[in-house]
Amino acid sequence: MLRNAGISDLSFMHKLILIGSQKGHFNPEFNLNQLANESLKKNLRSILNDQKRLDADLKASAFITEHNGKPIAFMILSKTQGNATEIWMMGTDPQYQGKGIASSSLDKILNKFKTNNSVVLAKCHPASEVMLRLLIKKGFEILKTGESGISLLAYNFPSPSKKPRSWSRLFKFRIRDFMLNNYLFIHY
Ligand SMILES: CC(C)(COP(=O)(O)OP(=O)(O)OC[C@H]1O[C@@H](n2cnc3c(N)ncnc32)[C@H](O)[C@@H]1OP(=O)(O)O)[C@@H](O)C(=O)NCCC(=O)NCCS
Repeated sequence: MLRNAGISDLSFMHKLILIGSQKGHFNPEFNLNQLANESLKKNLRSILNDQKRLDADLKASAFITEHNGKPIAFMILSKTQGNATEIWMMGTDPQYQGKGIASSSLDKILNKFKTNNSVVLAKCHPASEVMLRLLIKKGFEILKTGESGISLLAYNFPSPSKKPRSWSRLFKFRIRDFMLNNYLFIHY
């Protein structure tokens, strides 16, 4: 069962993120630096209580998959500055991995975005091959892989126009990059 996460899920989510960051799936600083670890906890608390990320001025919401009343997987969705949605963090308790939990919760979430044609983005660290393969299987495409090896993927991303507008031809502007920056407002 997929449900909204609440403050009682904080320690479960925090623990899974720390395990994941140890393996290179999330920011390694969460494990290496006590301050980063505390900030993560505060950030999660803010997301769970107020649907607000503290590391960026963005709305975020968290979901939990339960088994026998116990949380076994989580997903955090965040808005981006260009009003797309990012699958910001996701994790399944190692004991329950490989049982289709992430696949099924992604299906539920993506169905919602499919109907209103919203753009959904995700970033994967190089260690997160399972997640990368899963996202591609669900219809995401890799837009870019940065120097750090982090890949940016998108679902429902507008295809670049086959006939670039004259202004874009004129300025040799890459439509895809333009759209990307428009959604993210980041230097990737
Ligand atoms: C990525 C992750 C969330 C997937 O969760 P999950 O509930 O195990 O995923 P599923 O059971 O739905 O499996 C999805 C696919 O991955 C495959 N898979 C799952 N675990 C795997 C493993 N350890 N090795 C290889 N493939 C694996 C499954 O076979 C399935 O593939 P298929 O659809 O072709 O059969 C989980 O591995 C995880 O928590 N990883 C650590 C954190 C992480 O990487 N988060 C993503 C960063 S945002």
